[in-house]
Amino acid sequence: MRLLNTSLAKMTFLAAIAALTACGGGDGAAGTPPGAGGPPGASSGKSAPAGLITAADITLGDIDQGMVEKGRATYDVKCQACHSTGPNRVVGPGWKGVTERRKPEWIMNMMLNIDVMLETDADAQAQLEECLVRMPNQGLSKDEGREVLEFMRTL
Ligand code: HEC
Repeated sequence: MRLLNTSLAKMTFLAAIAALTACGGGDGAAGTPPGAGGPPGASSGKSAPAGLITAADITLGDIDQGMVEKGRATYDVKCQACHSTGPNRVVGPGWKGVTERRKPEWIMNMMLNIDVMLETDADAQAQLEECLVRMPNQGLSKDEGREVLEFMRTL
C-alpha cells in the first residue's frame, strides 16, 4: 500500500513537471507560422488585425535603465502574481528569455491587446490551452507596456 502511494505521488509529480514545461517553455510554438491552427476566419487578410502593434511601432536600442526600473515597478504591482522572472511558470509562463522566444510586437500585444490575441493568434491560443487560465487585461498604457518590455530584455 505504501509502495503504491509513493509511486502515485511520483507520477503526480512528473505530470506536474510536464505541465510546467508545456506552459512555461513556449518551445516549438515560436516556429509556428502566424495564423496556423487559428479559428476559421482569423486569417482573412494577411496583415495583423486592426489595432495591434506591429514591428514598425517598436524601436529597440541599448537597454534604457530608467525604463527598466519603471517596468520592474509595474511588474511588481500588476504581473508578479502570475509571472516569475525566472523560467518557471506561476499561473502564466516565466519571463526568463521571453524576448528571445517571442517577437517584441507579439509581447507588446500580449500585454496591451490580450483579448484580440486570444481570439486571433495561434501561439497565444496554444498557450491558453496549456495554462488553462486566461490572462486578464491589465489595462497598461502603451508606455507602461514598453517599459515592461525593456525590463523583460534584462531577464
Ligand atoms: C491572473 C494572472 C495573470 C496576470 C496578473 C498577468 N498575466 Fe500575463 N499571462 C497569464 C497567462 C495565464 C498567460 C498565458 C496566456 C493565456 O493563457 O492567456 C500569460 C501570458 C503572458 C505573456 C506571454 C508570455 C510568453 O512566454 O509567451 C506575456 C508577455 C504576459 N503575459 C505579460 C503580462 C504582463 C506585462 C502582466 C502585468 C502587467 C501580466 N502578464 C499579468 C496570466 C497573467
